[in-house]
Amino acid sequence: MERSLVVSDVDGTLLGDEDGTRRFGEFIAEHRDSLKLVYASGRFFYSLVESIHEHHLPAPDAIICGVGSEIRDYPSGEIDKPWQRRVLQDFHAGDVRDALRSFPRLVDQPQACQSPGKVSYFLHGADATQLNALRKTLKFKGIHADIVYSSGRDLDIMPEGVNKGAATLHIAERLDISHNKIIVCGDSGNDLPMFRLGLHGIIVANAQPELVDYHRPGLFHATKPCADGVVQGLNYWLMEAVN
Ligand code: GLC
Ligand code: MG
Repeated sequence: MERSLVVSDVDGTLLGDEDGTRRFGEFIAEHRDSLKLVYASGRFFYSLVESIHEHHLPAPDAIICGVGSEIRDYPSGEIDKPWQRRVLQDFHAGDVRDALRSFPRLVDQPQACQSPGKVSYFLHGADATQLNALRKTLKFKGIHADIVYSSGRDLDIMPEGVNKGAATLHIAERLDISHNKIIVCGDSGNDLPMFRLGLHGIIVANAQPELVDYHRPGLFHATKPCADGVVQGLNYWLMEAVN
């Protein structure tokens, strides 16, 4: 039987309710032989390693870090080099920062949240007009970048086409797993590119407003929050549809 690939966001999806996280761990332990597990987070590798230990999350096979800007194997931490080349081929974080200096409301996120493939700011309560103004400015300056906005607060400027969704497809190809065997799970804006791919999806009940109203065939809107919602969705997809 072909294995399934579960790709899940971490904060607000697998973490947020300790009992739910434990139940997720139990569920995965029962099904570990029949699936590959990947975490997809806005955070970077070592921060996630800490969370895995602290919250007893099941060991994944790989981690998509920094909103898709990096892919690393777990536990070795080995970087996926072809993906890294693709991410950095046409993106210069310094140029992005220079281009956006004229926006006084952008507040730099801490250094630990920045990388050569991801420039991140805090921007509270931005609306579509403000985000479009940023997009236009980047385009005008000849910068090929995408804007990812999450939770009414986090603004990530990413290399064009680089996101958690594209990283998911890259891993699936590497593992030779077909698209109808992939299940993606999340709670906020940086998870949207995974949900847009038309794969099986799980949106947890505590999702941010940008996801609550996102509907598409193939998306399971859990009625339970955080990791319990993921288990609910995995039961639905693994038991009823994917097999
Ligand atoms: C995580 C990252 C942050 C990013 C946010 C949304 O919190 O640490 O840099 O902006 O996810 O993608
Ligand atoms: Mg999240």
